[in-house]
Amino acid sequence: MTLNITPGAFGIRPRVEKPNPQFLAQLTEPGMRELVSQHYDLLVKSKIKGLFPDNEAGIDFAKKKSADFFIQICGGEAHFSKNRGNPMMAARHAPFKITPSARLVWLKCYQAILPELKVDEPLLLSFWNYLDIFSIWMINTPEGEGETKKAENKTGFWGA
Ligand code: HEM
Repeated sequence: MTLNITPGAFGIRPRVEKPNPQFLAQLTEPGMRELVSQHYDLLVKSKIKGLFPDNEAGIDFAKKKSADFFIQICGGEAHFSKNRGNPMMAARHAPFKITPSARLVWLKCYQAILPELKVDEPLLLSFWNYLDIFSIWMINTPEGEGETKKAENKTGFWGA
């Protein structure tokens, strides 16, 4: 199985398809929470660890928010909207400087753990394709400008 990474850049938003809901049906909610937990455990050891909370409570909360979102986007319970409101993912990422190479690190952490899942390959690929494309939307900083944690105020740009 090959999990391809589409080249991404600041300022492009390719059309995204949601994952096949059968992915969540096979993985289950606890399985999704475990997947997200493993992803964060890799992120906090990665080159982009500086973007994420530096304490356990912060990471646990980030894991919860992220898993709530993925369960929802995969056709499960609307945990994210109930707990956090409108997803507005790009706007929620605006405070963090996400460069094309930060996106690559983020994706590679999923690339490392997805093949371990016991779900049918086409379903796994539909989840991967969603991450691959939608993660391009989160790039909000050109390469070379991502040294610090907080982005400048991009409110105007994101139209928030
Ligand atoms: C492109 C690479 C990405 C990077 C570097 C990144 C980084 C981050 C950071 C730093 C946070 C804040 C962590 C915290 O809660 O303190 C965050 C939150 C979040 N991210 Fe990402 N992210 C990326 C892509 C994505 C993608 C593709 C999705 C969904 C498909 C996503 C979903 C979320 C969610 C749901 C939250 C919590 C938002 C909230 O309610 O506060 N992220 N991300």
